[in-house]
Amino acid sequence: METSRLARRMAARFVAGDTLPEALAVSRRINSETILVTLDHLGENTSSLEEAAAYRDAYLLTLTEMVHAGIQGNVSLKLTQFGLDLSERACRANVEELVGRAAGLGNFVRVDMESSAYTDRTLAMVRDLHAAHGAVGAVIQAYLYRSRADIEDLARRQIRVRLCKGAYLEPPSVAFRRKSEVDRNFIALTQLLLDTAPYPAIATHDPRMIDAAREHAAKRGIPRAAFEFQMLYGIRRDLQRQLVKDGYRLRLYVPFGPAWYPYFMRRLAERPANMLFLARHLFR
Ligand code: FDA
Repeated sequence: METSRLARRMAARFVAGDTLPEALAVSRRINSETILVTLDHLGENTSSLEEAAAYRDAYLLTLTEMVHAGIQGNVSLKLTQFGLDLSERACRANVEELVGRAAGLGNFVRVDMESSAYTDRTLAMVRDLHAAHGAVGAVIQAYLYRSRADIEDLARRQIRVRLCKGAYLEPPSVAFRRKSEVDRNFIALTQLLLDTAPYPAIATHDPRMIDAAREHAAKRGIPRAAFEFQMLYGIRRDLQRQLVKDGYRLRLYVPFGPAWYPYFMRRLAERPANMLFLARHLFR
């Protein structure tokens, strides 16, 4: 898939390109609409420490070039991309180098959340690195039962949180399965974040979740600059424009790089209509 021209064209809806210059050009365009970015150099579950070190170097370059180019944004990464499955120590050293650089540049690193097999290790690493450098934040998934307790802990430590619904297939022993339950928890956790956490990010394309956040912030008199919405590049551009027009802060998650296959598959799987999109392209 990753080397097929056709597949690449389909993925272009969700992925900003294969290279850093392409990602920076897309980011500049997004910034011109007063929307912030977070750049994700795609990759996960790396299979060697050399590969993990290469990703670390790619992120160091991304951060530096982004700051030099005056792009309003930060970076998001996955710990399995930085070698978590191979060596926790090497992974930590890789991420620490990036977080140290971000702190020096006055920038920020968001550590994405992967499947529940990684939640404890991911949060432990974010806590440690935050204590040492600041400049790093976590992601919490509303479909996990544990998330309220995790948010309470992160908020106590003044660690910034991005809240999302969650994108992995999880067993009922750890996660809500029904959409209505995930949505209810998302709204409750949004309120908790707005009330107690530093500069939370509400990451969703669901208008009901967005309205609930807006209503709660208005009711509590929380200023629009005290939180941000986040969406994925290429999804619900109508909603993106509306939020900006209404004066809210918005950040787009902009993935780029040649290893786009797992990311693209998660985006297709999230929504049946995307399979029609795929089928239409294939027939064409
Ligand atoms: P929901 O899935 O209910 O969708 C609501 C509406 O949004 C749909 O009706 C549709 O209109 C639109 N929509 C949603 N997904 C779409 C798609 N793929 N294609 C087209 N339209 C779509 N997950 C995770 O496990 N770990 C992480 O670190 C992150 N990080 C992250 C960052 C950011 C900025 C965002 C926006 C999301 C994530 N996610 C994530 C993904 C998240 O967990 C979730 O899978 C998706 O955001 C879809 O959930 P929604 O909240 O959009 O609602």
